[in-house]
Amino acid sequence: MSKNIFVTRKISEVGLKMLREKGYSVDIFEEDRLPTQEEIISFLQKKNYDAVITLLTDKIDSKVFDASPSTKIYSNYAMGFDNLDIEEAKKRGIVVTNTRGDYGGDVAEHTMAFMLNLSTRMVEADKFVRAGKYKCWSPTAFIGSDIKSKVLGLIGVGSIGSRVAEHASKGFGIKVIYYDVKRNEQIENECKAEFFSNVENVLKQADFVSLHVPLLDSTHHLINAERLSMMKKTAFLINTSRGPVVDENALVEALKNGVIKGAGLDVFEFEPKLADGLSDLENVVLTPHIATARESARDDMSKLAAQNIIDFFETGKATFPVN
Ligand code: GLV
Repeated sequence: MSKNIFVTRKISEVGLKMLREKGYSVDIFEEDRLPTQEEIISFLQKKNYDAVITLLTDKIDSKVFDASPSTKIYSNYAMGFDNLDIEEAKKRGIVVTNTRGDYGGDVAEHTMAFMLNLSTRMVEADKFVRAGKYKCWSPTAFIGSDIKSKVLGLIGVGSIGSRVAEHASKGFGIKVIYYDVKRNEQIENECKAEFFSNVENVLKQADFVSLHVPLLDSTHHLINAERLSMMKKTAFLINTSRGPVVDENALVEALKNGVIKGAGLDVFEFEPKLADGLSDLENVVLTPHIATARESARDDMSKLAAQNIIDFFETGKATFPVN
């Protein structure tokens, strides 16, 4: 039976084509900007939409659910799903899905890029060269740190964290330690990763700490001033998960005061705003939430978002439900 699908922003064509090939009618918020919640609501009120593909920036809560009683499934075009009130959806019998897929490897590569850039000081050095400051070679300029002898501490080793463990241990010979609520025997066997039963011990021992947890009440400000002070002064923090996992104001203070050595951030607590002082720091590498911005990853996300909807309507069960 034909279905009406609303997509809150233009996404890669491949998934939209899958939906159209099923005979579904697909409407898209066509403007090249994020829709506000009010705009999503007024779009939803135009028609009886059966499913919605949402972006990680769309706040989907009871106001949206009230506006569209016909919508049975919200398919989030992201691995994270903290932008949706999944408990409220569950109470109403609405299915919420995410796009957990193989493209977690792209986020793992972005994490490795942060490790390499922070240890080689490449971004700082690039700015120096562009500013015309490179006057002569110096044996003491831009001394970075090697990474092969270092310890990588992973907080969260699901589909992304475990790929980071693999790249780091197999590609660079880095020792990996980790904390997760669940042990991961695969990385223990294949990457000789060592499990720690609490976050604090990982923070105390790691030279790089990389966060790969979903944003939940229990992970909000998981990294705060107290935990930053447990890290080595020479350590780097990397966050490609969700901004509010880190207390960003506390991080700015820690970076200014030498509590830790540097940070690589793809996500921000008040995204797209940065905490005061963050962009003035030399010891940070900042990217605008682009760890999945590869053509293949965006195609995968589009396919998975569509497949969730197709499976839900054809079999009654979405591929990747989260509630
Ligand atoms: C990106 O941040 C995602 O959750 O897929």
